[in-house]
Amino acid sequence: MRLAVAGKGGSGKTSISGTMARVLARAGHDVLAIDGDPNPNLALTLGIDPERMDALPTLGPEHVDRKPGGPALTLPLKDLEASHSVTGPDGVRLLVMANPRQADTGCLCSRHAAVRSVIEVAATEEGDVCILDTEASPEHFSRGTAQHADAVLLVVEPYFKSLETGRRMAVLGRDLGLRVELVANKVRDDEEREAVRAFAERHELPLAAIIPFDERMPAAERARSAPLDFASDSPAVRAITALAEREMAHG
Ligand SMILES: Nc1ncnc2c1ncn2[C@@H]1O[C@H](COP(=O)(O)OP(=O)(O)OP(=O)(O)O)[C@@H](O)[C@H]1O
Ligand SMILES: [Mg+2]
Repeated sequence: MRLAVAGKGGSGKTSISGTMARVLARAGHDVLAIDGDPNPNLALTLGIDPERMDALPTLGPEHVDRKPGGPALTLPLKDLEASHSVTGPDGVRLLVMANPRQADTGCLCSRHAAVRSVIEVAATEEGDVCILDTEASPEHFSRGTAQHADAVLLVVEPYFKSLETGRRMAVLGRDLGLRVELVANKVRDDEEREAVRAFAERHELPLAAIIPFDERMPAAERARSAPLDFASDSPAVRAITALAEREMAHG
């Protein structure tokens, strides 16, 4: 299964993709997590020391051959992982798209192409998982970075601008031929629950999960801990666990 996780800034993409990755790895799946945000934060949510992530080489133009039919990796994925990934708790492997350490280092085109090519050849065995955490912009759709995912989860909060971002991204995801599902996050009460349900119905978007607002999520971050390690029985982590199981059942 290859999943992209997208949505408006701060909606919870990293919390959800990182926690899903950990939950699935703990359940015995082989999991490759890709931090596709040029401001990378996925390591912490996976329980990997951000300093280990900072020491990692990132993807670059040397890893991608721009063929007319679409970009392709210049080396086998396992070789790329051997030199460019770090393995964290439960065996999740993390690849980082970009981690700009200097100003004025140019555009990210080739890095997006490298991520696209990684996803194309990732998780080929049944039960294997590749999860892409994206930045808060339509870049991963407009550049075709998420092209080879099986599905995209659009994380929305229950307020208009966030839902509207989800709606726009749904159009782009469907353009790429992806299965698009909505995940409502930080939902506080029945009124918000109903607003999200009505929105999903109006735009014919399957609502894959409603994740409650949960103080334990930012508390985990403040403690520099993965939500799964900090509060494995908290309502949000339980809802994300159910979402991960649901997505695996989809295949
Ligand atoms: N269910 C939740 N309840 C309360 N807070 C949450 C929940 N999910 C995530 N958060 C908090 O919301 C903040 C943003 O979460 P996160 O970094 O996962 O979002 P993001 O969409 O990846 O953001 P960005 O667009 O910056 O990449 C974090 O402080 C996180 O702890
Ligand atoms: Mg994020």
